[in-house]
Amino acid sequence: MEIQRKYLEYNMREKIIGRIEDFPEGKGTEVRLGGLKMAVFNIDGELYAIHGSCPHKHAPLHESGENRYNSEKCGGPFLGEIDSESKMVKCPWHGLRFNLETGESPVLRRKIPVYNVILREDGEVAVVV
Ligand code: FES
Repeated sequence: MEIQRKYLEYNMREKIIGRIEDFPEGKGTEVRLGGLKMAVFNIDGELYAIHGSCPHKHAPLHESGENRYNSEKCGGPFLGEIDSESKMVKCPWHGLRFNLETGESPVLRRKIPVYNVILREDGEVAVVV
């Protein structure tokens, strides 16, 4: 068990993804780190990073806050949404919801990856991957 923990710590690194001003409040921002795609949300100054692609049909989850009718992709009247109180985002294509803190979806009963976000005093933002 101890060996596994050390292995995990060894492999986890902080990667700088930008500055706080790169992540507008109340919105999602797409971040790519090598082959990893994330959606980073700024909710009341708190940053949350989740996997960037919906597990259903791979919608870009950073668009969850755009509140738009996405007829092009899904043909239905679904709206993306960010609920700042429950910390839930709603996929802009078909409406699955994901918790920004846990990655859980109440409908799918499974999690998408979430990443710890570090906001440094100088405004630099990093994620732990
Ligand atoms: S692509 Fe996200 S719910 Fe369908």
